[in-house]
Amino acid sequence: MKVAVLRLLKEHLSEYVSGEELCKGLDVTRTAVWKHIQALREDGYEIEARPRVGYSLVGIPDRLYAEEIRDGLTTEFIGRQVFYCSNLSSTNDLAKKLSSEGVGVSNGSIVVAEEQTGGRGRLGRKWFSTKYKAICFSLILYPPVSPSEVSQVTMVTAVALANAIRKETGVPVGIKWPNDLMVGGKKLCGILTELGAEIDKVNYLVVGAGININQQREEFPEDVRDIATSLKIEMGSNVNRVKLLQVMLTEFERCYRTWLKQGFSGILVKWKEMSVSLQCPVRIHAIDKSWDGWAEDVDQDGALLLRLPNGQLQRVVAGDVSLRV
Ligand code: BTN
Repeated sequence: MKVAVLRLLKEHLSEYVSGEELCKGLDVTRTAVWKHIQALREDGYEIEARPRVGYSLVGIPDRLYAEEIRDGLTTEFIGRQVFYCSNLSSTNDLAKKLSSEGVGVSNGSIVVAEEQTGGRGRLGRKWFSTKYKAICFSLILYPPVSPSEVSQVTMVTAVALANAIRKETGVPVGIKWPNDLMVGGKKLCGILTELGAEIDKVNYLVVGAGININQQREEFPEDVRDIATSLKIEMGSNVNRVKLLQVMLTEFERCYRTWLKQGFSGILVKWKEMSVSLQCPVRIHAIDKSWDGWAEDVDQDGALLLRLPNGQLQRVVAGDVSLRV
């Protein structure tokens, strides 16, 4: 009902809607309307009330509320169901729980959090994000593929998010192997894909993404301050997180569909076009070793093909790249 009150107020943004109109339109009492108005104010909506005139919505909070994300979202299945949490350990953890418990969470649902207390990155690392300043979300997918094809979905995600950020902000993001989004050598976004699977069948896939949006440099922990960036740092102004998330979901749906229908080759071409770590000298830090070499190519499974100084081609499936100058 709170959502219905909000919808009516939004239809008449910055105009007054009478209490009577709200009561009639929603078939509730004046007391009920008042309670919902109060609840919306507690959520951060600015609503002016004038005796004998009515209510007017004059400000929408910078929050990733489910109804804000869905408002104006034109996707068919991505982001149609939204689980919003103000504070959560990790959106990937909740998404995995929801998709593995068989509680009927639909394909394309998302879990969004304003703050994660146990955000996780690749290779067992932590992922830090400032409350209300980032976008942390996880997509729940049930793709008809085998576990070996899952890395393709991560690459689909990297391409989709990079496209969306470029379109919406003009910031020239590139992709660093395996799937970090970078601007000017600094990390803007990380992607962590996890799955529940049998030997030849994926039961569910959780693709988590953390994008730095409105943080200032000092808001990053000291150890990543020189290697991370945000859209605000790059652009000098705040970005509307809801709008950007909507564009990311739309772009993801488009790319994911292309991948399902036409296979991986088109996505891989786009991935390579946006790559900032191919055809250059790199150092690869894997879990237990590191290599120097020439980043020659990426194969159909997303593995990096590294030309070693002795001429051999090394296939690297997991690790981090740093560019050598
Ligand atoms: C990386 O670059 O190491 C991957 C970072 C992934 C972070 C996101 S934030 C949303 C989702 N929930 C998590 O706990 N991690 C991912």
